[in-house]
Amino acid sequence: MDLAKEVRVNAHAPYSGFKVGAALRSTSGRVHLGVNVENAAYPEGTCAEAGAIAAMIAAGDTEIAEIAVAGDAPEPVTPCGGCRQKIAEFAPKGVRVTMGTMTGEELVVPIEELIPWAFAKAQMEGG
Ligand code: THU
Repeated sequence: MDLAKEVRVNAHAPYSGFKVGAALRSTSGRVHLGVNVENAAYPEGTCAEAGAIAAMIAAGDTEIAEIAVAGDAPEPVTPCGGCRQKIAEFAPKGVRVTMGTMTGEELVVPIEELIPWAFAKAQMEGG
């Protein structure tokens, strides 16, 4: 969470003004960081979680051990639906998603509670 808060300042969020930072630890023990990167063509913007996952994959790691997301909001910032699906691709059941505010409120939820019934590779088998 400390690293998510630290990297958050680098977010590119001139349109929403809402900076988000994400830090994930992969099972190798390494930490990968991401921030939201908005774009003048609004739908092209990407979330902090997506950035951290891209950094993890680029570094050669493939499994999330834990992930933290930080934003300056009155309540802990919860990942959007798309990012829940993205996290679930690399996080087995039980992986803790810690969501936080800049003032210290935290919410910790296992990934399977954030996205029950996530679409998964197994559903494409035999189809
Ligand atoms: N955002 C994230 O990066 N992660 C979240 O978990 C929630 C929302 C970003 C997307 C957009 O740049 C801004 O926050 C406002 O939605």
